[in-house]
Amino acid sequence: MPVPEPGEGEAKVRIVETPVNPSDLLYVRGQYAGVQEPFPAPMGFEGVGIVEAIGPGVKDLTIGQRVSVVNGRGGNWAEYAVVPAGELFHVPDDISDDQVASFVINPASAIVMVRHVLAVPKGAWLMQSAAGSELGRMVIRLAKRDGIRTVNIVRRREAAEELKRLGADVVFVSGDGPIDEQVREKIAPEGVKYAIDPVVGEIGTQMFRSLHEDGRMLVYGSLTGEPIRVGEDPRYILAGRRIVEVYWLGYWLKKFSASQTEQLNRDIIELMRAGIVETSTGRKYSLDQINEAVTQAEQTGRKGKVYLVPGMGAGNGSAKK
Ligand SMILES: NC(=O)c1ccc[n+]([C@@H]2O[C@H](COP(=O)([O-])OP(=O)(O)OC[C@H]3O[C@@H](n4cnc5c(N)ncnc54)[C@H](OP(=O)(O)O)[C@@H]3O)[C@@H](O)[C@H]2O)c1
Repeated sequence: MPVPEPGEGEAKVRIVETPVNPSDLLYVRGQYAGVQEPFPAPMGFEGVGIVEAIGPGVKDLTIGQRVSVVNGRGGNWAEYAVVPAGELFHVPDDISDDQVASFVINPASAIVMVRHVLAVPKGAWLMQSAAGSELGRMVIRLAKRDGIRTVNIVRRREAAEELKRLGADVVFVSGDGPIDEQVREKIAPEGVKYAIDPVVGEIGTQMFRSLHEDGRMLVYGSLTGEPIRVGEDPRYILAGRRIVEVYWLGYWLKKFSASQTEQLNRDIIELMRAGIVETSTGRKYSLDQINEAVTQAEQTGRKGKVYLVPGMGAGNGSAKK
């Protein structure tokens, strides 16, 4: 494809690194309702790059600046992307390219879900599924920092010890029996008030049944693609006021005022420097190795986030840390 040039209010960025996130894969499969361009369409929502050209009317960017690139239309899995200048953010130099490549989607979601949407108070229990995900690990460390206790659900026993070392208070393995029974027996007989779930299906259903009568659960992913069953057991719907609520970062970023967004960026920088919203780096691939990259991104028990590095060139090896 020809290298794109920026128009009014846009900038052209040379992409240095771009992650393979679950949302990218939903999008490629036509399952991402938040954004859906007609196919064929460019893809890749997040990344780090260098500003190479600026269109008319752009004020706050300079050529050569390193920026985080949240490409709302998709298109970061490429050597160059042209995006509205407002989707670029200059991140201080002491933060590594790997972290800047994953600057927004997971770090902002961890902060927005825990501190803004649920506003979990100190001392409360917060329950989460897929706790070993990159985002789940951020939530564990953030909760620890904020004095919140976490109940973490994983599907692999090996993940439990690792998460405890990160600061998880309790880890349940989903195969060890219904989560609601484990929660009510060992944590809170009345159930927990705060929960976040990207797994849905049977896990989400059991989490719903673990909620306190005033409990609230954010559903923020679709890892199994199966339904959460809310009404099958009347004990949990003909009593109390349990809330199941969709969380999507794009919605909240639009709601945030300019000063809230500035504060969020400052919080991400501070928490990234402290290692709290840090992403662990997995394998890196060239654009030509997209098939291997996607296969690796979906491996059970994968270690670290998978990145595409457009400048790496084909055949340069796939296991650079
Ligand atoms: N709504 C939003 O705005 C928003 C924003 C950011 C992220 N998200 C969502 O957050 C989730 C985590 O993102 P991430 O980047 O942190 O992901 P990630 O690092 O790729 O981790 C995925 C995790 O999900 C677990 N998993 C995958 N399939 C599963 C299944 N069928 N049942 C149970 N667990 C399963 C994996 O477990 P193993 O370790 O056992 O393999 C892994 O720990 C994704 O669903 C993503 O779409 C949503």
